[in-house]
Amino acid sequence: MPDKKLIFSANKIKSRVKELAEQISKDYAGKELVMVGILNGAFIFMADLVRAIEMPLEIDFIRVASYGAGSVSSGSVTFTKDIELSIKGKNVLLIEDIVDTGKTLSFLKQHISDKKPASLKICALIDKKERREISVIVDYSGFEIKEGFLVGYGLDYAEQHRHYPDIFHLLSPEK
Ligand code: IMP
Ligand code: MG
Repeated sequence: MPDKKLIFSANKIKSRVKELAEQISKDYAGKELVMVGILNGAFIFMADLVRAIEMPLEIDFIRVASYGAGSVSSGSVTFTKDIELSIKGKNVLLIEDIVDTGKTLSFLKQHISDKKPASLKICALIDKKERREISVIVDYSGFEIKEGFLVGYGLDYAEQHRHYPDIFHLLSPEK
């Protein structure tokens, strides 16, 4: 096991996800909502979030590769799986695990906007606001952190650690 420190427990995540779901249900009441999860990191957050939302909605996924196998952003985003539902004229909510430099989301926002949705907002479980290199506004944010590389609850380091129910700060990712 690598050195890691608990940051957000499964219980804490669960109650925050419920609050986010309530807010989203209120804001989108009576509207056509498509929730688009960004793979792979958002798979657990998305699964919990959609189950806490009490309104009709459609679900799809999109996939980009931005980090390679390390913990430092490569700066280049590669697009590997597109949305399959038609989102033209619908309200799209992009679901991301964590926003760091903002490069991934600014790329995706542009790509999705080109498909002419009625609206496009972002929901991220974690916002590393202070590390932003490209301005991206997170409309629904679960938690904010200043620094550190996090794993668990979908978040990985070199594809490891995604399955933990809690979120940890990975203290020595190079080991
Ligand atoms: P950005 O493009 O720099 O905003 O990076 C966003 C992507 O990098 C996210 O989709 C995450 O997959 C990954 N990422 C950024 N910070 C972390 C972290 O602390 N743990 C795990 N993945 C991260
Ligand atoms: Mg990721």
